[in-house]
Amino acid sequence: MFQLTRSVTWQSLLKLREETANDRIRDYFAADPKRFDKMSLRVGGLFLDYSKHQISDKVLDKLMELAEHSALVQRRAQMFSGDIINVTEDRPVLHTALRNLGDTPVIADGKDVMPEIHATREQIKRFSEEVRSGAWKGYSGERIRDIVNIGIGGSDLGPNMASRALLKYRQADLNFHFVSNVDGAHIQKVLRSLDPATTLFIVSTKTFSTQETLLNARTARRWFIENAGDDADIGAHFIAASTNRKAAMEFGIREENVFEFWAWVGGRYSMWSSIGLPIALAIGYDGFIEMLEGAYEMDQHFLSAPLSNNMPVLMALIGIWYINFVGAETQAIVPYDQALHQLPAFLQQLDMESNGKSVDIFGRPVDYKTGPIVWGQTGSNGQHAFFQLLHQGTRYVPIDFIASLKPEPGVEDHHFALLTNMLAQANAFMEGSSQGGDLDPYSCPGNRPSSVLLLDELTPRNLGALIALYEHKVFVQGVIWNINSFDQWGVQLGKRIAGEISEKIDERSQDFDASTQGLLGLVREHFSAAETPRNKHADKATKTSRKGASSKHDAATKP
Ligand code: F6P
Repeated sequence: MFQLTRSVTWQSLLKLREETANDRIRDYFAADPKRFDKMSLRVGGLFLDYSKHQISDKVLDKLMELAEHSALVQRRAQMFSGDIINVTEDRPVLHTALRNLGDTPVIADGKDVMPEIHATREQIKRFSEEVRSGAWKGYSGERIRDIVNIGIGGSDLGPNMASRALLKYRQADLNFHFVSNVDGAHIQKVLRSLDPATTLFIVSTKTFSTQETLLNARTARRWFIENAGDDADIGAHFIAASTNRKAAMEFGIREENVFEFWAWVGGRYSMWSSIGLPIALAIGYDGFIEMLEGAYEMDQHFLSAPLSNNMPVLMALIGIWYINFVGAETQAIVPYDQALHQLPAFLQQLDMESNGKSVDIFGRPVDYKTGPIVWGQTGSNGQHAFFQLLHQGTRYVPIDFIASLKPEPGVEDHHFALLTNMLAQANAFMEGSSQGGDLDPYSCPGNRPSSVLLLDELTPRNLGALIALYEHKVFVQGVIWNINSFDQWGVQLGKRIAGEISEKIDERSQDFDASTQGLLGLVREHFSAAETPRNKHADKATKTSRKGASSKHDAATKP
């Protein structure tokens, strides 16, 4: 059986790390004036500068060898063609089919999936145009003004991030809200401001079984019925994006308002599917398609570009260098773009839920590091929060700086300051500073690596390409680490135990450790058996009572 860490290439990289550990990045530029030209790459509306890394030409060549000797080319072909590469869930991985705007069939489980993808896109088109035009009416005959997406994980983070990133393309008279946390404060805050007559809820859940989403959806339904109408009105105000049509209909959603997607779409890869409904509602169907087109273009680049000139492959290998040979534990994502303030959270799930694994695809424990801790915040805020540690701390943290070049009209001066701050930081991290020589307390050692990823403009197309770029980067790393990037048994464990604990809140169950039992005792003091969450809501939500006419038009006062 192949042992990655025993391979000649891996051993050569370890040796190269020893040889280059004290290299100064700035010296690479001094030695090769063409370094920037050689280590930068444009794909469509994206430009990547990866020259400020502690990676010599020899290291880069050896990293490329790691990719060439891996199963990358074969596994990439398998993914795009619908083979079962999610081996523990026995599923294909076909988020790329969702943005396959060509006519080439994509076969999964012996069936061409493109017809149903096209049908769902048509359903999204019709629905988003109906809501945006005002043709879709609520129970009182008024148009929709507020859209509430109820979902968590990949059923929240993708549409949430994209609809905020593309705010400038959003229809002005539609307001969007995203409820994800099971903490009631989250949904209460949203419902408090809404009028049920003009509110549409999207219950976004692949499985229609996630505890947080179902509880939030039931609370929204109860609020709606108490403040507006009865079950008969649910159909005009609740829709679902799910693979579980049956459960959605049992919740009270009309069959024609279930926007299906499929088991071969991973939650954190699902914003291209009907989970992306909020995006289509926000920026229009054409904008949504443009986003798919951007991702499709990045797919084609990933499929066709030589590995040595392949943006996702290069980003993946740079990450592997730091994780497996330099010993970095985390990867920072710092978008110098307020519209991308949700991007770090999105990429955190994409990367950590995909590659936070410790067994390979054969179920064997790995003897090397895998997915990093991904974190970040917008710049320039980060400069006043955690850059101190990055400049002078004891940690070695590679950074991805991301920005768009084109300024918004009216704030050109701000954008200039934003971009120059970002370039200054990338330079400072590399150059460092030493006022009084290496011993002074003011010195910043420098030699801290970063990539700079520039979008010509933050458009639906370029955002689609950016997200697809990171999806493929994560995929390439997963292939080289020989792990399954598409299951999430760790999350399923949490879901299962949460169910067990909430079921046993009433009894002093010996099923749990003394700490959990002791803590449950404290929790139990605040919830009598009769009032445990499970009981309190179960019956009330099914009660239907049409309020008097007057209450139907009062703006909702209590969630
Ligand atoms: O976190 C695990 C996960 O499956 C995510 O991938 C998904 O986004 C989230 O749970 C929500 O799952 P569902 O969409 O089925 O409610």
